[in-house]
Amino acid sequence: MIASPKPYQRGVSLPSSNPFQRLADLLDGETPGLDPIIMTIGEPQHAIPEFTAEVLTENMADFRRYPPIKGSPEFRRTVATWLDKRYALGGTIDPEDGVLPLNGSREGLSFGAIAARDQLDKGLDHPAVILPNPFYQTYAAAAHVADGEAVLLDAVAGNNFLPDLDSLDTDLLDRTVAFYVASPTNPEGYVADIAYWQRLIALARKHRFFIFADECYSEIYRKTPPPGILEAAVQMGEGFAKIIVLNSLSKRSNLAGLRCGFAAGDPDFLRKWAKFRGLAAPQVPLPAQAVAVRAYQDEAHVIENRRLYNEKFAAAEEILGPILGPVTPEAGFFLWLDVSRWGDGISVTRSLWRDAGLKVLPGSFLASDQSDGSNPGRNYIRISLAAPLEQARIALDRLANWMGDTQ
Ligand SMILES: Cc1ncc(COP(=O)(O)O)c(C=O)c1O
Repeated sequence: MIASPKPYQRGVSLPSSNPFQRLADLLDGETPGLDPIIMTIGEPQHAIPEFTAEVLTENMADFRRYPPIKGSPEFRRTVATWLDKRYALGGTIDPEDGVLPLNGSREGLSFGAIAARDQLDKGLDHPAVILPNPFYQTYAAAAHVADGEAVLLDAVAGNNFLPDLDSLDTDLLDRTVAFYVASPTNPEGYVADIAYWQRLIALARKHRFFIFADECYSEIYRKTPPPGILEAAVQMGEGFAKIIVLNSLSKRSNLAGLRCGFAAGDPDFLRKWAKFRGLAAPQVPLPAQAVAVRAYQDEAHVIENRRLYNEKFAAAEEILGPILGPVTPEAGFFLWLDVSRWGDGISVTRSLWRDAGLKVLPGSFLASDQSDGSNPGRNYIRISLAAPLEQARIALDRLANWMGDTQ
């Protein structure tokens, strides 16, 4: 576990560039030691569902139309039905006001904090927006555009890579308008359990803030479907107040380029957010929504997708396990490897490129420095298993050899 000197760090400014630009700067002028293999990309490489072209063709004429901001009734109904089945919600999601289409979950993550700030009207110049650290960088952008004060909570191994809810004081919680958290987490692939979600929901209701639960990796799991925040809420029995879940077809169905996702949960929040989006946001094209309808009615392609990832994690376990111990996360498609035996994540990234032609991402680029200079991602590298099995195997063999040679 990485010691955190403070439970949280306030007022972090927006990173000047995204992790991939920082990586390009880090490796600028360096020559790869072998044919390069890129293991940084979070973009799915498996096939898109075979029905995609057919559904787009059938709905081609709808590209002429401006789509309704709330999406088609069929889209909302299908998503509500999928959520209901996936999380055993007992018909509690309202398909009229409880589901909103988004241009990928990223759209909702980017602008959710603005809506939260406006709707809560806490009368603060810079209300707090809480993020985990490491974090998906859009959360920091969300805090920035909402003119909020980003408060970063270390999410480290000792706490299942989730923000420690016990570290939050009342003053901070009262000033908070939005709490961003992912499960499964990116980069670590950990999963929040029902008890964690319920504690967070109770805090949100007591201190009046919205939870933005980023569940876009929910279907990329090894064995057990990760529990969702809506499921936790239903078990509490008090509706979905203060809960917004974000998800999309990007990872589930390898349709990252379709830009089709949704927000679901608190109907009161979503009704008002739809009005705001009606002024400010791009709509989701109707043919994309039609693909989503078909995709959310089909689990076969998702099962196959999981099988392909699981094959690659099995290879990672076989190749890296003897050196590092268990490396397979519960979910997601990244390896989050503690490489402190070989240096920090930045020096290891540079050496892997120079010596083995492997491009990986230093963990610290996915996190922010704390006020004492510590960074919870410092000892880690992130390796994406999006690449095909054969390529992933070559990369993992090279990594294992490098580790063996460099001990
Ligand atoms: C943790 C996390 N959240 C959200 C997103 C955005 O996904 P999309 O907008 O494609 O749904 C990503 C994409 O990589 C991600 O890794």
